[in-house]
Amino acid sequence: MTKSQMIKKESCFNFIMNIYDIALSQIFQELTWLKENNSDIISNVTKRIKNPDSIMKKMKKKHFQNNYTNLIERIDDIAGIRIVCPFKENIYTVLKLIKEIDSIYILKEKDYIRKPKKSGYSAYHLIIETPVNVNDTELLVKVEIQIRTMAMDFWATNEHDIRYKTNKKISIFDSKKLSFYARILNILDDKMMKLRKKQNFKSLQFFKT
Ligand code: GTP
Ligand code: MG
Repeated sequence: MTKSQMIKKESCFNFIMNIYDIALSQIFQELTWLKENNSDIISNVTKRIKNPDSIMKKMKKKHFQNNYTNLIERIDDIAGIRIVCPFKENIYTVLKLIKEIDSIYILKEKDYIRKPKKSGYSAYHLIIETPVNVNDTELLVKVEIQIRTMAMDFWATNEHDIRYKTNKKISIFDSKKLSFYARILNILDDKMMKLRKKQNFKSLQFFKT
C-alpha cells in the first residue's frame, strides 16, 4: 500500500469513528438526563468507544474480512454505554424508560438476567440505533447499551480482569469457581433487594401511623 493510500484509509476510518463518537455522545447525554431524573434507580452511566486495536482483534476473532461494510454491519459494540443500577428490578424500569426515548430505536435485546451466559455473566443488553446528521444526511448508527446491577458489574469487571488481563488461560476449576461466585452474587442481589423493600415498607407504615 502506498503512503497516500494509507492516509486515505486512515482518514476514512477516522471519519467513521467520528460518526460513532457523535452517536455515543448523543445517547450518553440522553441517558445522563435519565439518571439525573431517576437517581434512585440509576447509580452510574459510563461510555466508551472501542479502540482500533480491539476492533481489529474482534474482526479477526469472528473471521470477518477487514472492510468497512463488515465493520459497520457486523460489529455492534464500537460505541458502548454501561448503566449500573442498584437492583435487578431497577433494570426493567430503566429499560422501559429507554424505550420511551424518541431518538432510540431498538435493534436487538438480550436478557442475560433471565438466562445468564455459561460463564456466569449476567446483564441486560440492547443494541440500538440512533440518527446522526452527516452533511445533511441522516445516518443510523449502532450503540450497545449494557444494563447491570452493582453486583453484576462487580462480577463482570473482576471476571474480565482475571480472564483477559492476566494473559493466561484460566483453569476449568477456576472457571467453575467464577460461575459459582456469579450464582452467589445473584442470590445476594435478590436478598438485598428484598431487605431494602421490607425496610421501605416499614418506614412507609411508620409515616402512616
Ligand atoms: P462479543 O463478540 O463479545 O461482543 O459477543 P456477542 O456479540 O455475542 O455479544 P454478547 O452479548 O455475548 O457480549 C457483548 C459484551 O458483553 C462483551 O463485549 C462484554 O462486554 C460483555 N460480556 C459478554 N459475555 C461476558 C462474560 O462472560 N464476561 C464478561 N466480563 N463480560 C461479558
Ligand atoms: Mg464488547
